[in-house]
Amino acid sequence: MNEFICGDCEEELKRLPDECVDLVFTSPPYADQIKDYGEKVKRISTDKYVEWFIPKVKELYRVLKPTGSFVLNISDKLVGKYQDLFVFKLVVAICEDAGFHLIRDYIWYNPATPPNVFSRGNMGRTKKSHEYCFWFSKSDEWTFNMDPIRKPYSKDMQKFLQGKGKGDRADNTRPSRHNFKLDQKWQNHGGSDPGSVITLGNTSSNDAFHKLCKAAGISHPARFPQKLAEFFILSGSNEGDVVLDPFSGSGTTAVVSERLGRNWICIEINPQFCELAQEWITMIRNENNE
Ligand SMILES: C[S@@+](CC[C@H](N)C(=O)[O-])C[C@H]1O[C@@H](n2cnc3c(N)ncnc32)[C@H](O)[C@@H]1O
Repeated sequence: MNEFICGDCEEELKRLPDECVDLVFTSPPYADQIKDYGEKVKRISTDKYVEWFIPKVKELYRVLKPTGSFVLNISDKLVGKYQDLFVFKLVVAICEDAGFHLIRDYIWYNPATPPNVFSRGNMGRTKKSHEYCFWFSKSDEWTFNMDPIRKPYSKDMQKFLQGKGKGDRADNTRPSRHNFKLDQKWQNHGGSDPGSVITLGNTSSNDAFHKLCKAAGISHPARFPQKLAEFFILSGSNEGDVVLDPFSGSGTTAVVSERLGRNWICIEINPQFCELAQEWITMIRNENNE
């Protein structure tokens, strides 16, 4: 526990006991990925992706506690002219073949997605500026904490909380037919439900991890932002719980889990990435002990 395991996740997961993990948060290599994760990582085509991934998902199901969740960060791609359906086929297989239940499909919207070939508008579509985060549960009960992920109330909501809104339901009916009684105080929950779109740039280019990469002469090509991991780790686990990332890359899940008082198990196939991740977490631990 709280150490990086260097190896193939399908093999390494088999060594873990049943029901020892509270939350899986991970981002596997995407289909036909062009990023270089080293010689051990083969390119998986979209038509082979479900077949490649499902045996791993079955292991994740086994190691999760009954109240555990699995959050999958993934994106799709174009094959020829069209957006391939492998992500949607994978979601169906995760539920129908591996036994998970889909709780919510979250969108990670990256407003800082750089312009690319689609941005010219002559390829029949816009650029893609979001990825998916699918939240699956193992059973009918799962850990979910809303309070740590609440957003600050908007100015309007602050008015409603003080009973300073105007009009009853008939006066406040929206085109969607939702209607609100605004002339009474609304209950204050300490912040609003953040909804299912997580808006986060992925622009960090000069943090402690980058400095380590420069010193070591290597880098990781596909880190997700710490804030993304934070959202799911805070809401999907409690302090002292065990968080697993079977494709841990640079170790973002480990770093965030540790900062939030969770235990973690991280598996990564590329030994250089494991070393880098170990250095990163050691550096943070040393800084905290100073
Ligand atoms: C998208 S990256 C994960 C990045 C990570 N979330 C981060 O913030 O750094 C996917 C990682 O999975 C690793 N990987 C690919 N196949 C693997 C396997 N079979 N077992 C374990 N790790 C694997 C790759 O080397 C790569 O580092």
